[in-house]
Order: sequence, then structure tokens, then C-alpha cells
Amino acid sequence: MWDHSGRRYLDFSSQRVTLNIGHQHPSIVQARIEQVGSLATVAPSTVNLARGEAKKRIVDRAPAQVNEVFFTNGGAIENAMRMARMHTGRDKVPSAYLSHHFNTGAAVVATGDWRRIPNEFAPAHVHFIGPFLYRSEFWATTPEQDGEGAFRHFERMIQSEGPPSIAAVLLESVPGTAGILIPSSGYLAGVQALFDRYGVLLILDEAMEGTRWRWRRSLQRSMRWRTRASSGTRR
Ligand SMILES: Cc1ncc(COP(=O)(O)O)c(C=O)c1O
Repeated sequence: MWDHSGRRYLDFSSQRVTLNIGHQHPSIVQARIEQVGSLATVAPSTVNLARGEAKKRIVDRAPAQVNEVFFTNGGAIENAMRMARMHTGRDKVPSAYLSHHFNTGAAVVATGDWRRIPNEFAPAHVHFIGPFLYRSEFWATTPEQDGEGAFRHFERMIQSEGPPSIAAVLLESVPGTAGILIPSSGYLAGVQALFDRYGVLLILDEAMEGTRWRWRRSLQRSMRWRTRASSGTRR
């Protein structure tokens, strides 16, 4: 990349992880030309081939229970929080301090980092502390200890807030803009199990993290396990 003064940059963050296969990659350029040639734009509420194909590919790669896709042109987390509140009739959507969920009204309040502060028009929002070994809040020296401490804190947060008041918990499986904070797999597995136990929904904000293989595999494994468990089959 270069700027107006000719200064050159190596874009290691791929803008906002939106250009992971490179700037102006020929296959992306070609696909865009073809799309614009057949259907340049269309209202979000319409059915069309590109959206149908995108849905099919997402569902094919997602865990078995995921078979609906809601496309937005922005406001993914805003919409997810609304859906959870409408579906459950509950208000609270706790989220982590080390998180970023974007700039729309409810999503920026859910965001844990400093960008929330000047926009905090819903000050009762509940935040919790997630695992982060480098600055562990749980006196941990290993990822497992940190995950264990964070998991206990997470469960106490749900109990203390009261599950009947919690619509959903909002989580980046691996926070992105707060730093690439990879939790121990024990933390994620433990946290997932709590959603069934306490009857609250889980919103996974995968805007930056969506393709990380290890988490997807662990989610798929755990969902398979839960399906077996609820159909009475023992592992
Ligand atoms: C973690 C995370 N969540 C959500 C968003 C924003 O999603 P949307 O554009 O759908 O509001 C971003 C955008 O940068 C993001 O990084």
C-alpha cells in the first residue's frame, strides 16, 4: 500500500482483517466484476443467487444445528442483541471488558475497551473479565489456570446477575482488537456448557475470528456431544 505522499506500507493487519488474501487479489477483482455485471446491488430483503450461495456455504461449514443465516449490511452485534432480547424477553447481555463489538448504540456499550466510555448511554451494562494470561486477574501462571479462574468468575457473574434476567452472553471466542487473546480450550468448553445449565443464549462475535479452525472444531465437537447427550446417547 502507499499513501498520498508516496510512503509505502506493509499491511500486516489486512486492513481490518477484511483483506486476508491480499489487496486487489485477482480472483476477488474478477468475482466483483462478474457480480456487478449481473446484479450490482439489490435491497437486503430480496432473495438473490449470491446471497443464497453465501448462505449455503456458511451452513455447510457450520455446526449441524446452524441452518439459518441473517445477513445484515452492518450492525451484526446490534441485531444479535436485539434478537436475543426479543426472543427471551430479558434485558441483560453481559460481555467482556477486553472486547470490541463495534460502534452502534448497544454494541459500543457492550464493548469493554475505552471506546465505550464517551458513548455509554446504557450505564447498567454488565461486563466481566475474561482469560488473559499475560495480565492474569486470576493469579495464574499457565493458560489452564487462567482459563479455570476466568471460568469460575464467569459462572459467578451469571449466578450473581441472575440467569432469568440474562438474555444472552456476548463473547468473542478470541478477542481481536483487544489483542489476539487466545483462551485455553478448557475455558471455552466450560463456558459453553453453562449456557444449557442456566438457560441463557450465547452470542459469538466472530467478526474477526470466524475462520479460526481450532475453535470451530471444538464448537462442533461440543455441539455433537450435546446433541448426543440430549438424545440420551452416552459418549
Ligand atoms: C469484533 C467485531 N465485532 C463486530 C464488528 C462490527 O460488525 P458490524 O459491521 O456488522 O456492525 C467488528 C468490526 O470491526 C468487529 O471487529
